[in-house]
Amino acid sequence: MDKKYKRTLVTTALPYANGPVHIGHLAGVYVPADIYTRYLRLCGEDVILIGGSDEHGVPITIKAQKEGITPQDVVDRYHKIIKDSMEGLGISFDIYSRTTSEMHHKTASDFFKKLYDKGEFIEKTSKQLYDEKADQYLADRYVTGTCPKCGNEHAYGDQCEACGSSLNATDLINPVSAITGNTPVLKETKHWYMPLDKWEPRLRQWILEGHKEWKPNVYGQCKSWLDDHLQPRAVTRDLNWGIPVPVEGAEGKVLYVWFDAPIGYISNTKELLPDTWENYWKDKDTRIIHFIGKDNIVFHCLIFPAMLMADGDYQLPENVPANEFLNLEGDKISTSRNWAVWLHEYLADFPGKQDVLRYVLTACAPETKDNDFTWRDFQARNNNELVAILGNFVNRAIVLTHKYFEGKVPEAGELQDIDREAMNEFKDVKETLGANIENFKFREALKDAMNLARIGNKYLADTEPWKLAKTDMARVATIMNVAMQITANLAIAFEPFLPFSAEKLRGMIGLDKVDWNKLGSIDILPAGHAVNKPELLFEKIEDSVIQGQIDRLERIKQENIINNFKPKAVGPQCTIDDFAKLDIRVGTVLECSKVKKSDKLLQFKIDDGMEGRTIVSGIAKWYQPEELVGKQVCFIANFPTRKLKGVESQGMILSAEDAGGRLVVIGPTGPVKPGAQVG
Ligand code: MF3
Ligand code: ZN
Repeated sequence: MDKKYKRTLVTTALPYANGPVHIGHLAGVYVPADIYTRYLRLCGEDVILIGGSDEHGVPITIKAQKEGITPQDVVDRYHKIIKDSMEGLGISFDIYSRTTSEMHHKTASDFFKKLYDKGEFIEKTSKQLYDEKADQYLADRYVTGTCPKCGNEHAYGDQCEACGSSLNATDLINPVSAITGNTPVLKETKHWYMPLDKWEPRLRQWILEGHKEWKPNVYGQCKSWLDDHLQPRAVTRDLNWGIPVPVEGAEGKVLYVWFDAPIGYISNTKELLPDTWENYWKDKDTRIIHFIGKDNIVFHCLIFPAMLMADGDYQLPENVPANEFLNLEGDKISTSRNWAVWLHEYLADFPGKQDVLRYVLTACAPETKDNDFTWRDFQARNNNELVAILGNFVNRAIVLTHKYFEGKVPEAGELQDIDREAMNEFKDVKETLGANIENFKFREALKDAMNLARIGNKYLADTEPWKLAKTDMARVATIMNVAMQITANLAIAFEPFLPFSAEKLRGMIGLDKVDWNKLGSIDILPAGHAVNKPELLFEKIEDSVIQGQIDRLERIKQENIINNFKPKAVGPQCTIDDFAKLDIRVGTVLECSKVKKSDKLLQFKIDDGMEGRTIVSGIAKWYQPEELVGKQVCFIANFPTRKLKGVESQGMILSAEDAGGRLVVIGPTGPVKPGAQVG
């Protein structure tokens, strides 16, 4: 370990208290930060893990307005859910506080005041969007419109989620108020701006020259911002929820949420360590690490550091290992669309399986690119890795120790090549795994730990102690000693990743304390050391459980489609002649069957009042063939004849899409003669 630092301050992005925490937050921020911190603690480092809820900002006031409650009600509800669920997952915060705390209000207010007094802000009156009906300025998420960069029609006043651009509300094309749906007008108002352009040269130097080792995604995003040049940014807003701007003439104005929230890291450190907090922020021997998601990069790498530079007393972060995004079953996770696996629900649905989620989220963490969480993968990783590799090895080692040696670690005799080879394979695990964690390669580090269990399984499979037990107990003793040392190694190596299971395993083998320095060695358990009876570390997760989760997501998808259905704009007018060209008729379905070698097509025999006709229609996904027999349907009688999968189709049956995307066949509301024209 790099001994340049006396202590480490680890921060985790403060989640907005407008909803619970989901697996995207966990994989991107909290699980890696927790692994990192636990690891440093095991190494005996001075380290603190700081968290808290971000309780200001427009998403919270919008939510409160929607529900007819106060913003404080909203944040009280979600702060508790978030705090409890993170604790439930074993995220080992030294403090998890909130930005509505008194300490934070004072800290953020003083921070602003100091910069104000130093003349670090530009004061500027400009025209901002204003909703006359609501009698309110529209900042950030209070306004939506078309993104000027990519044309997305649902961009917000602070950001376009489609292209990731950061925006000003006045940049939006066709802005609409999120409160009333009205088109806002422009109205003058005064705000304070951080002149980021002033800090650009220092930021450039600090990151582009000084931190080439940052993750490529982080470095690249910073470089692209810097190359585009930084503009002054407003750090105040016309809102009534937030920290009042502490200067005269600022009534009705609050600090911009992105100004106050990162100061929350400082406030929460103060709350944790009222006397020594400054060591963690102002001493150059401290290493500050911010764990965040990629949408937070600009704030943590450019804006917050500029604020810290403007203050002059603070240290800048040493690294900002931002992750990309985790998707869920192929779709972007979204709080507003309820497309997520919520941590508090997971903990309720899978009691005692915190480590399974920690394992899967680490294994599929979006470290270098966006990644996908699927329930099938979750099940497979549990059943094929945690149960079949880790749990299986541990169980075999302990069961055999009980079977042959009354639960006492036997003394090893003379080592053979096969023993030395196995040991050789993991003797460097402490260095390898540690280096991976220190370089924020948590997936690799987890593989290093899992590899120990693989080595153990292979060792037992190769040495087959159960066969030797009849003839050579001395040899069995050596093998079981090695196997138990590997088990003890596992109890140490998994501690940062799977703290619940590691603790349980330590209980099983009677290892009271975790000595990280022992990792990789083969003298952790002395001969004669008694181990307890094995318990199951992990259990198989059945298909039905997984299916239940998949069904839940399927229901949410359907609800979203229904809630979001909007009729398409009506097309250009047609002429009467255009309409007259279409010969639409009613027919009665005589027969219906599946078209061979196709799962989309149904083949109909229609009574059209004449000699009858065959029509093929792509609705097999939504109808059983027999369902439509005897029903009357509308069809275009003069539609061009074409061959579909070898069947000649003489017309087209009309159908409409329901809100769930299902096609519903259109027919008359009462019986008519087959062949009757529709018009
Ligand atoms: N609440 C923000 C988000 O969820 C993160 C704030 S991080 C902090 O994107 F540094 F500002 F606290
Ligand atoms: Zn865009």
